[in-house]
Amino acid sequence: MSLWDDLWDIGAWTAPWNSWSSRSLLVFEEAWSEDTERLATIHAAGFPGAAWSASDLAALLREESVFGVVARRANAFGTRSAVGFVLVRVAADEAEILTIAVAASHRRRGVGRALIEEAMRRLYRDRVASLFLEVDAGNAAALALYRRLRFEKVGERKGYYAHGTVPGATALVMRADLR
Ligand SMILES: CC(C)(COP(=O)(O)OP(=O)(O)OC[C@H]1O[C@@H](n2cnc3c(N)ncnc32)[C@H](O)[C@@H]1OP(=O)(O)O)[C@@H](O)C(=O)NCCC(=O)NCCS
Repeated sequence: MSLWDDLWDIGAWTAPWNSWSSRSLLVFEEAWSEDTERLATIHAAGFPGAAWSASDLAALLREESVFGVVARRANAFGTRSAVGFVLVRVAADEAEILTIAVAASHRRRGVGRALIEEAMRRLYRDRVASLFLEVDAGNAAALALYRRLRFEKVGERKGYYAHGTVPGATALVMRADLR
């Protein structure tokens, strides 16, 4: 069974871009420059010692080749606050996850997976064939998430991370086939 069969099975195709997810009370929207302060806070909690500032994130979102998906949770009054995000850069028929982070209070609820699935849906629509990422070989949570989404290891970079799980940690390069 392909990744796309899986997405169909869980009803993801019925949850279009900018709509309420069928699986949770979360909405997935494109990231805008107004989001960057909150996204920087989430990023800092996820990447201690290697945080990207709000202006770093804003600069990335201004790039034409970069898009972001934000997961927001609405409160009883309808106010939405971001609980996670993913940034993706596209080059021709390939794309790369630049970063992904979910607020600690919202982890293990399927937010990270849903963010990547939303990004994949958009890439598939745009006929992008492959999605790459780099992950610290010691980041068990991220590795489990990516393997679940059928990313496969295609390379590694030893001593790549200055601020990884251990100084000089190895980066794994992973790829998902979107066709
Ligand atoms: C990695 C991260 C984005 C995962 O987000 P999340 O919303 O908690 O992930 P999900 O709930 O969607 O998890 C999906 C699957 O990934 C795996 N997974 C996620 N976190 C895990 C953990 N801590 N331990 C083991 N497996 C985990 C599980 O298979 C999980 O499915 P399950 O809950 O049904 O078992 C989040 O832990 C995070 O923000 N970490 C800090 C930043 C970071 O490391 N980013 C990745 C850099 S490459």
